Amino acid sequence: MSLNSAARAAILVTANNRATERFMNRYGMRLGASRFVAGETMDECIRIIKDLNQQGFKCNATELGEAVDNEADAARAVDDYEALLKRMAAEQLNANVAIKPTLMGLAIDEDLAERNMSHLLEVARGLGLFMRMDMEESARVEPTLRMYRRLREGGFTNVGAVLQSYLYRTAADLDSLLPLAPNLRLVKGAYLESAEVAYPSKVDVDRNYVRIMEAALLGDGYTAIATHDERMIEHAIGFIQRHRIGHDRFEFQMLYGVRPQLQRSLLARGFTVLVATSYGTHWYPFFMRRLAERPANLLFLARNMVRR
Ligand code: FDA
Repeated sequence: MSLNSAARAAILVTANNRATERFMNRYGMRLGASRFVAGETMDECIRIIKDLNQQGFKCNATELGEAVDNEADAARAVDDYEALLKRMAAEQLNANVAIKPTLMGLAIDEDLAERNMSHLLEVARGLGLFMRMDMEESARVEPTLRMYRRLREGGFTNVGAVLQSYLYRTAADLDSLLPLAPNLRLVKGAYLESAEVAYPSKVDVDRNYVRIMEAALLGDGYTAIATHDERMIEHAIGFIQRHRIGHDRFEFQMLYGVRPQLQRSLLARGFTVLVATSYGTHWYPFFMRRLAERPANLLFLARNMVRR
């Protein structure tokens, strides 16, 4: 295990510590979470999206929150997302929505999550909006993809999924999804996974990313290349040019607050760039995953602590 991978794992393990969580919930926003979180309220996020739209970026929005363990919380999340969809349409934003399946109740009951997703997709369809289901821990991949397939069979074309290149299974998942001409976001993967299911080495994760990205781009669907890795991005651009893949078949996606200069330079080169924004008070696990992606971010957290 490299030093960087060890640091990532340590951050993700520390994230489960109650004292760390309490401390971060109290001071984290001031210490740096606001760099990655587009506010604690929908209004703050909408303001940020409007500004990004004006610069030429497409956006998506996620209300932060992880697995719910009861129907009432899932219903509340559905209401919040319905309000978000309606607000996006009313404000005519160039934006869509990304949602965690466990927030819809996937950890309680697959049918409940599917009913909730169907309801939101129906609302989104009426408003001309698209929704993407995020991908969570490896245990959720099978039910999430099952739900994606059922929603597509049910006639929804405004739904997309995510595949993670760190999982061994992903190349096979992609092969089985391609006949559906899917709208897929490709990421490396943000959760702490064991070597039984995921490549432990970053070189292999990157190699698999290139493999699935090329296969997805050659397929019939729409590919969202969601990475801040410049080498991957330049490789994608070369591949797209060699294979004359139309600009209507792919986009780049990056997280709000991560590599903004790179986001602007891709936009200036004429590519579609989506900035993924997240908002809400439950930002702690999201922020810890961002720290784990780049342990150097801990330095920026530490600097802010000294400055306080
Ligand atoms: P990599 O980790 O190799 O980083 C490449 C370079 O990007 C770094 O050297 C650094 O310069 C910069 N960078 C990356 N992360 C940074 C950070 N946090 N802060 C500062 N710089 C950083 N994952 C998942 O499991 N399920 C999901 O649904 C999603 N959804 C999603 C949507 C979008 C739009 C993006 C961009 C990412 C996700 N992810 C995700 C997260 C993804 O799996 C991955 O953890 C991060 O994108 C970091 O990996 P990179 O591909 O950027 O490469």
